[in-house]
Amino acid sequence: MSSPYAVFGNPISQSKSPLIHATFADELGIDAPYEAILAPEGGFNAALHAFIVGGGRGCNITAPFKIDAFNGATQVMTRAKTAGAANVLSLQAGQIIADNVDGVGLVADITQNLGLALLGARILVIGAGGAARGVLLPLLEARPAQITLANRTLIRAQAVAACMASYGAVQPQSFETLQGGYDVIINATSGALHGAGLDIGPQVFEKTGLAYDMTYGKGLTPFLQLAKQGGARHLADGVGMLVEQAAESCLIWHGKRPSTAALIARLTVPFH
Ligand code: ATR
Repeated sequence: MSSPYAVFGNPISQSKSPLIHATFADELGIDAPYEAILAPEGGFNAALHAFIVGGGRGCNITAPFKIDAFNGATQVMTRAKTAGAANVLSLQAGQIIADNVDGVGLVADITQNLGLALLGARILVIGAGGAARGVLLPLLEARPAQITLANRTLIRAQAVAACMASYGAVQPQSFETLQGGYDVIINATSGALHGAGLDIGPQVFEKTGLAYDMTYGKGLTPFLQLAKQGGARHLADGVGMLVEQAAESCLIWHGKRPSTAALIARLTVPFH
């Protein structure tokens, strides 16, 4: 039998999830073996089926399978629905229940670990792809004063904002018209993955309390460099979000939420 818990992705060897979940299981004193599964491109459904037949009870999903996981679910939680993607599945009694805990992980990291209040804050989210969609509902639920969604291609930001309209106001904006004054600026573009810079000026970061890059382990990304140059008071990458979303997955599967601070400190790569 394979492990009852797993993360699916392609590639997957870089994933920190097995280490994170092994640490959580130790802390909580539970027997929950967790492994990384490399599914072939186009082969997620077959891999998930084999996992279920082998006794799988829960799994995380990473790129490029989050939309496949969402589409194949028998039940979808609202957070996954607004994201249009799933990053955690619960497998019970023949059901595949899809959820998305990226956004709650981000909010927990910002408010609890980094100590910044989102209630009443002015938030700028950059990017309008899957990563941005995955975090908008929990950000809205934190009751900020304003969420602006800026994207290189404005029409995509407008479409995402329209999808979110029944949950709260998201203001779409183009890069060209962006100005400063945000408390929190979150980079949800895939640019950092390829080391690409963003076509925005450093003045956008004027008076910014926190510049947050959702990627992790990439050091001072072009986004964070720009934020530093523009005077953002605090810089963070997504390592805390990674650990917090794993803790949320643990809560879904085991009904217990492990502590996260020591693990975040252990996985943090300092910026130079
Ligand atoms: P993901 O699931 O990682 O969000 P995606 O759905 O392909 O991936 O979306 C990628 C996002 O990163 C988009 O918002 C994209 O902007 P466009 O809609 O204009 O393509 C953004 N992005 C990627 N590279 C970028 C770059 N160099 N500058 C600005 N935005 C970039």
